[in-house]
Amino acid sequence: MAEPLSNGAVYQSVPESYVLPEHKRPGRSPPSSAAAIPVVDLGGDDPDRMAEQIVAAGREFGFFQVINHGVPEDVMGAMMSAAEEFFKLPTEEKMAHYSTDSTKLPRFHTSVGKEQEQLLYWRDCLKIGCYPFEEFRHQWPEKPAGLAGALEPYTAAVRGVALRVLRLAASGMGLADEAHFEAGGELTAGPVIMNVNHYVACPDPSLTLGIAPHCDPNVVTVLMDNGVRGLQARRRHRHGHQGDGEGWVDVDPPPGAFVVNFGHQMEVVTNGRVRAGEHRAVTNARAPRTSVAAFVMPAMGCVVSPAAGMVPEGEAPFLRPYTYQEFVGVYTAANGDRDAVLARLRNHSG
Ligand code: OGA
Ligand code: NI
Repeated sequence: MAEPLSNGAVYQSVPESYVLPEHKRPGRSPPSSAAAIPVVDLGGDDPDRMAEQIVAAGREFGFFQVINHGVPEDVMGAMMSAAEEFFKLPTEEKMAHYSTDSTKLPRFHTSVGKEQEQLLYWRDCLKIGCYPFEEFRHQWPEKPAGLAGALEPYTAAVRGVALRVLRLAASGMGLADEAHFEAGGELTAGPVIMNVNHYVACPDPSLTLGIAPHCDPNVVTVLMDNGVRGLQARRRHRHGHQGDGEGWVDVDPPPGAFVVNFGHQMEVVTNGRVRAGEHRAVTNARAPRTSVAAFVMPAMGCVVSPAAGMVPEGEAPFLRPYTYQEFVGVYTAANGDRDAVLARLRNHSG
């Protein structure tokens, strides 16, 4: 059985099994002058401005941060405390939830996100089914004591933020129906699943990664962390321009902010007008990092395709139509690697 990284050990060096082959290592940290991830202020009453900023950030990064989102500090704080407490539990308490079956919920796993690749990543993770509450409540871990109580208010709140962001995005892109992501299309009718991620302090962040580069498979993800740096977003130019401004940018949310990133389905629905935010987690030498990522998912049977007006007349959508269930199969087989996922679903008829 695997041993979690958060087993109380203090690592003096990176164990051999976590040292990535050179071409997979994170490379040099981005310069501090690197482009910052946009901040969208959801307070006030200028929805047109918010919508415009969300779409602009979606185009460049697929990532942005939101402030004045209305989620009470104590709801966020209770969730983060419970998340941090979980990883301080004795190893056997965590391992009670351990599984290598990626479909199991809840599921504690360590370093094995990319099992077929035979590479180990510097992360422990507790994956929890959160919403609908009736479906998942009974299976929430009893320890730490605060976790079950924190999950419901936190999930309800971040789901609300996610849906609000999607309505703003829909209006910013000029979709006919501002509720495109809620109505009929089932794009947000699936569950909310949460990754509670923990990265113990790493003696040499240049040798390993917490999570390999990926886009999330779903529509939109809302994340908070404990203020320790680690998340990075990839910035790419739209039109094949390499070089200038490309590369990894630190996502370092101000206290109380959420990080929002679009997933693969958002890119498909908009036919690439906004992008899925590619990201990775580097490790931190100074302190342990904990993050809570809530994934708002489509219903499994949802057929995902571009919204009306998103594909220019006479052109074909960049991906062929598929169900979300099919997408998840492809995503899993491709280890979440963006290019591999897209290659398998590309539209060859257009
Ligand atoms: C994830 C993820 C990033 C982080 O759980 O999918 O990308 O900052 N997490 O922990
Ligand atoms: Ni992710």
